[in-house]
Amino acid sequence: MTSALALDAPGLAEYMDELEERLREAVAWDDGVAGAVGAEALGAGGKRLRPLLVFLASPPGRPPPVAAGVAVELVHLATLVHDDLIDGAELRRGRRSVWAAHGAPAACASGDYLFARAFAELAGTGDARLVQVLADSCLALVRGEAMQRRQTKQADTTPDEVIERLTLKTGKLFEAACLFGGAEGLGPFGLKLGIAFQIADDILDCSGQTQETGKIAGTDLREGTPTLPLLYAAEEDALVGDALAGGPLEGALLRVAATSALGRARERALDYAADARSHLNGALHREELEALTYVVVDRAG
Ligand code: IPE
Ligand code: IPE
Ligand code: MG
Ligand code: MG
Repeated sequence: MTSALALDAPGLAEYMDELEERLREAVAWDDGVAGAVGAEALGAGGKRLRPLLVFLASPPGRPPPVAAGVAVELVHLATLVHDDLIDGAELRRGRRSVWAAHGAPAACASGDYLFARAFAELAGTGDARLVQVLADSCLALVRGEAMQRRQTKQADTTPDEVIERLTLKTGKLFEAACLFGGAEGLGPFGLKLGIAFQIADDILDCSGQTQETGKIAGTDLREGTPTLPLLYAAEEDALVGDALAGGPLEGALLRVAATSALGRARERALDYAADARSHLNGALHREELEALTYVVVDRAG
């Protein structure tokens, strides 16, 4: 996504290069299976959107914190490794997911390892505030995942309950990235941006192309995860609601696409993106941050 945005903010390329190097070093700490599996997951790529936020949310006159970018990306990676196991998702970043390639125990262990490496990275800065921010977002993530378990196959989940889940499981880590940057008042921007981003991801899970997303669409419906697009579609087509509640999946994704659900969900994502923009003040990278609010909604991967 960074390249698609064609961002050429001064210092960004250098920041991203250093970040990659430090990510590789952080993951290579263990020379056993966890380190090898972590390196493989890291090497598969990804948009590096959260470290990009750290950079863009850094105030002028201070070097953007690389350790914080490393930590937030490692937590993100850890959640993906665990999330794919929980969701039974076999493809990630265009490759077999960790559990599919190496089994569930390796996915549990390497995800835990990546969480630990993230906190070790922050501890190295000696800044307890950063550790607290990341710990808070990890706790939110856990609550979000627990909420997702409770909402599974519950086709009567309300949109507000969905948003609460997205706030916890995605918004809080985006918020943390912005708080890591340190520019005044950007936390709420990150939170809303993360919600918009996750709604877009949920749309892509209905209609995205594997070549672009690196994932296989239909996971949410198969797992009975009530996302906004699926709930909106269920309002119009009872068969989609049945599929969401655990009924037959045959043809259900096509039926979702035939409703107005994807467009309605996109409108909600755009609302959150606009809300994010309303929190932008005189931040140094205002133009790039504003551009991100559009890109996160209308993206192919
Ligand atoms: C995927 O995040 C998980 C969600 C929160 C939707 P990304 O789409 O940022 O994943 P990568 O890092 O680019 O692979
Ligand atoms: C986001 O949810 C995962 C986390 C925030 C842990 P999804 O399950 O929708 O993410 P993808 O689609 O697998 O990337
Ligand atoms: Mg998933
Ligand atoms: Mg998804």
